[in-house]
Amino acid sequence: MENLAKAFLKLRKEDFSLLGAIESGMRDHEWVPLAEISQLSGLSARKAEYRLRLLFEQKLVSRETLHYEGYQIDFDAYDLLALSDFVKGDRVSSFGERIGVGKESVVYAAEGEIPLAIKFHRQGRTCFKHVRRLRSHLTDLPRVPWLYAAALAARHEFQVMQRLYPTVSIPRPVAISRHALAMEFVAGHQLNKITLSNPQDSLEIILEEVGKAWSLGIVHADLSEFNIIITEAGPRIIDWPQATECTHPHAQELLERDLSNVLRFFDRKYRLKMPQETALERAKEAATS
Ligand SMILES: Nc1ncnc2c1ncn2[C@@H]1O[C@H](COP(=O)(O)OP(=O)(O)OP(=O)(O)O)[C@@H](O)[C@H]1O
Ligand SMILES: [Mg+2]
Repeated sequence: MENLAKAFLKLRKEDFSLLGAIESGMRDHEWVPLAEISQLSGLSARKAEYRLRLLFEQKLVSRETLHYEGYQIDFDAYDLLALSDFVKGDRVSSFGERIGVGKESVVYAAEGEIPLAIKFHRQGRTCFKHVRRLRSHLTDLPRVPWLYAAALAARHEFQVMQRLYPTVSIPRPVAISRHALAMEFVAGHQLNKITLSNPQDSLEIILEEVGKAWSLGIVHADLSEFNIIITEAGPRIIDWPQATECTHPHAQELLERDLSNVLRFFDRKYRLKMPQETALERAKEAATS
């Protein structure tokens, strides 16, 4: 959605009740029947039908009328429900620009007690729909796995960040709702987008941070120049949904892959060469100190 804040401000309290009702109903139905939406939202069927028509025009709900009148929500409405939660809980006071779009998330700037980045996870949509199409005869598949896949990814990322912060240099995790994670906004530049005056120092600090995460039982598993932000106070590592326990059978391999991604970047951009074994030693030193 282009303008989440605008869409948010247009909605009334009863619209959020309707979207929330559809969200709940989707646990049991692919298309939630109007009668159930009315019951779950506490709105009369007439009122519900009228407001749902407006939500449909705003493309916040989809409708299916083949067998009965049923409704579904997609990520746009799920985003708005999460945002509404943050606003109600006084986590977010204003909502700003889109600052990042990845294959598996959309990130917005916002304000709360501190400047925030809100990451809306997007996992599960394409791949699960695909799976369901292929296996539509199976009844034991969850009906709306995208909703759960995205929420699970967000929860995992949040829990990992809570374990790492503040020992490891990452954004402070602030709040979570559904598939949305509110965290401290990190002012700086992605490592791949700037030219460092002292690349050796930055590389050493990054290895140290990787080591500290390892000492807390975590390997990032998606580390690269795209997931490191350089601030005035040094590098900060973001994007933790893939994080894996050090006890995982592939943890060592993932750690080595993380390190080699970083080493490859410093070699390519700065002609700075460090053997993989040295990097591994540095990280493990930081882990035990
Ligand atoms: N805390 C933050 N402060 C400032 N900018 C952020 C913050 N978190 C994310 N961003 C911006 O949003 C972009 C996307 O965030 P992130 O890397 O976490 O997800 P992603 O790359 O979409 O995830 P995936 O790698 O799964 O596709 C980042 O590259 C960065 O520009
Ligand atoms: Mg990323």
